[in-house]
Amino acid sequence: MGSEESYFPVAISAAVSFFTMMVSYYFYGVAQKPKVYTSNEKLEKFLRSHVTSVNQKFYPNAFIWEGRLQSIFGLKLRLPNSHKLPYSREILRMKDGGEIGLDFLEPENVDQNTLVVFILPGLTSSSQTCYVKTLVLSITSKGAIAAVLNNRGLGGVPVKTPRMYSASNYEDVQEVIWYLKKKYPDNPKIAIGTSMGGMVLCKYLTNQPEEAKNTFLTALVISACWDALSGIKSLEKPIINKYIINGGMTRNLQHLARKYRKVLEVRECFDFNKILGSATLREFDSNFTAPQFGFKTVQDYYLDATILNVVSKFSIPVFGFNAEDDPMSPGDSLPKAQALELGSKLALVTTVRGGHLGYLEGWLPTRRNEHYMERFAAEFVGAVMNYGQELLI
Ligand SMILES: *[C@@H]1O[C@H](CO)[C@@H](O)[C@H](O)[C@H]1NC(C)=O
Repeated sequence: MGSEESYFPVAISAAVSFFTMMVSYYFYGVAQKPKVYTSNEKLEKFLRSHVTSVNQKFYPNAFIWEGRLQSIFGLKLRLPNSHKLPYSREILRMKDGGEIGLDFLEPENVDQNTLVVFILPGLTSSSQTCYVKTLVLSITSKGAIAAVLNNRGLGGVPVKTPRMYSASNYEDVQEVIWYLKKKYPDNPKIAIGTSMGGMVLCKYLTNQPEEAKNTFLTALVISACWDALSGIKSLEKPIINKYIINGGMTRNLQHLARKYRKVLEVRECFDFNKILGSATLREFDSNFTAPQFGFKTVQDYYLDATILNVVSKFSIPVFGFNAEDDPMSPGDSLPKAQALELGSKLALVTTVRGGHLGYLEGWLPTRRNEHYMERFAAEFVGAVMNYGQELLI
């Protein structure tokens, strides 16, 4: 009695129970089928019949299934920085003299029937950011042309005028779309926006419904923040959200502002001490983004960037793809009710896990070119290529 050996089986059986508990939790709580919110039967049928991942369980990475970890490691477990995609770049001059980079990756044998996919990356991402590259690869593997937007100052594009970009201003994006229409007048086109790119895309779609309808067959919006105020509030929760995710995004933006300080600081609305001293995205936006685009307060800017309340203005089918545990777009701020409204052109696909642009799969935390997000996007693009006419509404 009380000898060390007698505890040994107890320890083992405790470990076995814990392990069994975790495994059951994983299989019953973590791995789940996505949900589809829409009142539009056409869109639901399109998804269920042609984007088959929607009908299957999503098995998040066995080590990294928690939303914040998925968000952080999503940027690590895809193609490394050293792996560059061989795009051909075109520089477009905007009406204020600023420049935008448009990067093309074309598969072999393209003609005027080849689908063109316009891709809008997130906040400080460019065509060579890991998740953009993996999305491009999965899209071009289906035989579509990828055209990736590089915002002012990103992906090697210089800043020529004292103006950057925001989550609610779509002027640059519209000029790029005009160019794409000129370059590929007859090709079918869709747009895929990720994170902030999805927000800007939705601003364009809801403000230019006629032009959007004459340009794009449909749009896919991945990990967008539909309600900017909820998103920013969630990003201020301690500790990981505020200091790692929010702090990291703020530092990326400050790096950009610092890099182009000479060009930017001619604007009277900028106080660079404040811009570079900002600790959070809200502070940075108060000092940089909001004044630059003419908003009195950062609150006004976030309200303008919110698309939750304008989804009824979509003129083409829009597919939203979000994880409930996305720290930048929490599950209770997603446009589920709006997607379920009568006459909705939005179908929202949600997963319980996945985080922000995470959606990592696999038993071990290893790099992959394709996780759940890429597979979904590739299936979606394939579905549009083969059954796009089913989306005409
Ligand atoms: C601007 O940044 C400073 C830090 O440099 C911060 O204290 C301030 O709150 C920001 N301005 C606003 C209006 O939030």
